[in-house]
Amino acid sequence: MTLYDLVAPGLDVLGEPRYRIAEIRAADPLGADALLAALPAMNAEADVPALTVALRTLVPDEDRVASLGVVDALAAMRDLGILLGSLKRHGTQPLAAVPEALPVLEELGRRTDMVPRDTVHHYTTWNPLGKRRRMYTGDPMEGNLQDAVRMVFPSLVASLDTCAELARLEPYDPCFALVLDRIAQQVQAMVDAIDLTVARVSPVFFAREMRSYFEEIDVAGRDYLGPAAAQVPLWLVDLTLWQCDRGNERYDAFLDDSVQYSLPSWRAHYAAHRGGVSAVSKLSAAFSWEGGGRVPATLTASAVSLARVLRILKTFRARHLTIARKAYSEEVRLYDAGSGGAPVALLRSVLDLTRDNETLVRRSVEPPARAAR
Ligand code: HEM
Repeated sequence: MTLYDLVAPGLDVLGEPRYRIAEIRAADPLGADALLAALPAMNAEADVPALTVALRTLVPDEDRVASLGVVDALAAMRDLGILLGSLKRHGTQPLAAVPEALPVLEELGRRTDMVPRDTVHHYTTWNPLGKRRRMYTGDPMEGNLQDAVRMVFPSLVASLDTCAELARLEPYDPCFALVLDRIAQQVQAMVDAIDLTVARVSPVFFAREMRSYFEEIDVAGRDYLGPAAAQVPLWLVDLTLWQCDRGNERYDAFLDDSVQYSLPSWRAHYAAHRGGVSAVSKLSAAFSWEGGGRVPATLTASAVSLARVLRILKTFRARHLTIARKAYSEEVRLYDAGSGGAPVALLRSVLDLTRDNETLVRRSVEPPARAAR
């Protein structure tokens, strides 16, 4: 039993191979364990010839790829993927060096219904623990970053169902507040994760050692981003709370680009909810209808719960912005843009949006004197 089974009891764990975390972690379909244990040493020496041979050695033939089920195909992509990012980090386009990997990546992408390279899921959730853990550098801080990202996925998976449930409710319904309280518990994991990162990953280490491994690579003429934390799908939660009708061009464009790196069911969730009415908009409309008269207790409870969730998101984003600013400060950074393809300015803009929505909701239930302050 995995953590997913514990926190996301509503999920059809057996029906969705991408949630069979323990099996994916245990899988070694390309026999890569020994070779990948040597990867940090190859990277430390910037040994491009050794990395090229390693990738060539692991690339399976057509028949082998055709025999892989989804669980093994995900593990195979994970193991090829960490070599792709390593080669790119040392200035080599991996598919120029090992062209025979191209049809394999494309087929693994098709079989798993994901992009034709590894994602943050391969690098964290589907990565084995202990001695078999795949790492670029082997540095404990890299492990801490992987752990921080890994720990939020169970909650975000669970939030998918909770957010879909919220989208079906109106703020006059007592369930609206109850569902939001569940979401609040789920998004708290983001705050815990960023606190762990701040405590155990130095921004200089991220900027100087890790960032370069997450560069984009060229796959058949198209760039695909590396397995960066920016692909953590917090947008799953934003979407129905406020983003679907209260975003801005910048964040909307970032999401449009990021969604492709997520799981098929999450992409379907995005497609189903992106044209919807957000919880903040529903609540704000309900308060307008009340016209300043006596507001029903259920509506007040809904606003209090919604403000609480937005406050937690705001806390994550404020702490995250602080560490991102340090890692991308002029003295430290090697790149202008984040590994998700966007600058730190995007984080400021998403934090502002989160804060504006939280302020709007909070003010609807504050007594006028406090709200005027
Ligand atoms: C040293 C650590 C980190 C740095 C320097 C950093 C930096 C950044 C930057 C610059 C962005 C803007 C988009 C882009 O990358 O292109 C971003 C986005 C993002 N990052 Fe991080 N990050 C770090 C750790 C984390 C961790 C541990 C998590 C989650 C557990 C996380 C979650 C996110 C999310 C969800 C976004 C999308 C924007 C948002 O929803 O606010 N990051 N990060």
